[in-house]
Amino acid sequence: MSKAPRKIIIDTDPGQDDAFAILLALASPEDLEVLGITAVAGNVPLALTERNARIVCELAGRHDVKVFAGCDRPLVRPLVTAEHVHGKTGLDGPEMIEPTMALQEAHAVDFLIETLRAEAPGSVTLCPLGPLTNIASAFRKAPDVVGRVAEIVLMGGAYFEVGNITPAAEFNIYVDPEAAAEVFAAGVPIVVMPLDVTHKVLTTRARVERIRALGSRVGQVAAEWADFFERFDVAKYGTEGGPLHDPCVVAYLLKPELFSGRLINVEIETQSALTLGMTVADWWGVTDRKANAYFVGDVDAQGFFDLLTERLARL
Ligand code: BDR
Ligand code: CA
Repeated sequence: MSKAPRKIIIDTDPGQDDAFAILLALASPEDLEVLGITAVAGNVPLALTERNARIVCELAGRHDVKVFAGCDRPLVRPLVTAEHVHGKTGLDGPEMIEPTMALQEAHAVDFLIETLRAEAPGSVTLCPLGPLTNIASAFRKAPDVVGRVAEIVLMGGAYFEVGNITPAAEFNIYVDPEAAAEVFAAGVPIVVMPLDVTHKVLTTRARVERIRALGSRVGQVAAEWADFFERFDVAKYGTEGGPLHDPCVVAYLLKPELFSGRLINVEIETQSALTLGMTVADWWGVTDRKANAYFVGDVDAQGFFDLLTERLARL
């Protein structure tokens, strides 16, 4: 007998790489049941991230997916955005039409709380792909739901790669370090996809052309998103292609054997102006601080792109 699909909530700030993650999840209904998508301010302001989430659902032909708008700014700091990477809309690249599916009325934080209360304890996995503001806000507002989360699998942080938005910090953690600190201290099992692994998942020409060659609207749009998104990192790092960060989270849920890491302690810097948002990861086990996260360090990049391409072909 086949297993029931795993229930997930995708918390996101699309972003082209977020869009790939959403498409990968929606293309995998036998493995993943997307209970809802909660938008948060991050790569671009909230009005655009919730719109972009709906655009991606419609591209996948899934007008039925519930999309909620969440927090429009970090817990205590002004919002920092990343139009320099993702373009003005967050989904720059191909021409996209305005979505027609409605935004849900409830606030994303209330949806997170109500869903975690309604579903069986330990049955819902949270997949944050942006700043952790919505997740921390739900935990603050309803501490009873913390123990009901099965697992958090998130994209954020870095150890060996250190930072991308500052020399010391990765974007998602940097934007809302207080939220990240609260989530990492919450006691929920956490899997982290840091830059150390996402920087190995590069949109080489051959990989992008395979996606374009799918010949579908999804394949065309996804390839054009990759074309646009990679230019920033290609110029910065001199790599062939850019890192496809966020779909690593969904790929891990689908095929964890593609990834390897270590169960370690990870603390978030919230005080220092110089290293704000740094994920201080005890990769080498030099402290006696308690392990609180499975920190991924390596990936079978070709296996990842084979999975992504095969799943996108279904849409
Ligand atoms: C992360 O920041 C965003 O720009 C991407 O969508 C990804 O979630 C990478 O640092
Ligand atoms: Ca993101």
